[in-house]
Amino acid sequence: FSHYKEVTEEILKDSYAIVIDLLRATSTMIWAISNGANVIIPVENILEAKLFKKLNESVLLGGERGGLKIEGFDLDNSPLSYKKEVVFGKAIVMTTTNGTRALKKASFAKRIFLGSFINAKKTAEYILKEALKDDMQKIAIVCAGTEKKFTLEDILCAGYFADIFKTCLEKIEVDDLSLASYELYKKFENDPHEILKYSYHYNHLKKLGFEADLEFCLKKDFVDCVCEYKNLVVEKV
Ligand code: MLT
Repeated sequence: FSHYKEVTEEILKDSYAIVIDLLRATSTMIWAISNGANVIIPVENILEAKLFKKLNESVLLGGERGGLKIEGFDLDNSPLSYKKEVVFGKAIVMTTTNGTRALKKASFAKRIFLGSFINAKKTAEYILKEALKDDMQKIAIVCAGTEKKFTLEDILCAGYFADIFKTCLEKIEVDDLSLASYELYKKFENDPHEILKYSYHYNHLKKLGFEADLEFCLKKDFVDCVCEYKNLVVEKV
């Protein structure tokens, strides 16, 4: 269990990683793929994204800086913008402040999956099945955080993954941070808003008027697809 800034090869080697940026990058990417986007190409900066568009006009540019749409981009980072009629069959180049960077940082892991409440169960089940086939013993959860700090929403979602793994496995060893995330999640599992209303990024998005995104990203398991970051792109497995 790590914040993406602290992720090292040592931590991630010989593991599968689940990268979580609950509000909102990984939730948005998963929803875009679930609505039929062919592929998402996460990039670290705006210039790189614009270069993709120059080379291929049919790609959509999505993402945010400060939570808001980037000038010249097609889409912001709200999952609700990634409707079927907008994204179906499209390649989307995305850059966000923390989420896309966290994905790149996780590339020391053997496989990298995207995590969110919206598809956590399916993702956890798929990972367990693959881990068994692959004799993989370690699953690392990488929280994107916000502005170089941990954020509560990612930790709650990590706790939900710990909860699912605990239910599915007879024996599981967790580090202290995973244990803390699990206990915190269990305390607020029925109403995460109850604790998140005191947290930084949740309030930032609320102030920007993204209440509907908060509701959306905190709903559990209504999406069936599992998303993997592989060969520099996010695709459905
Ligand atoms: C990020 O990558 O930092 C976030 O997804 C920001 C956001 O909520 O748009």
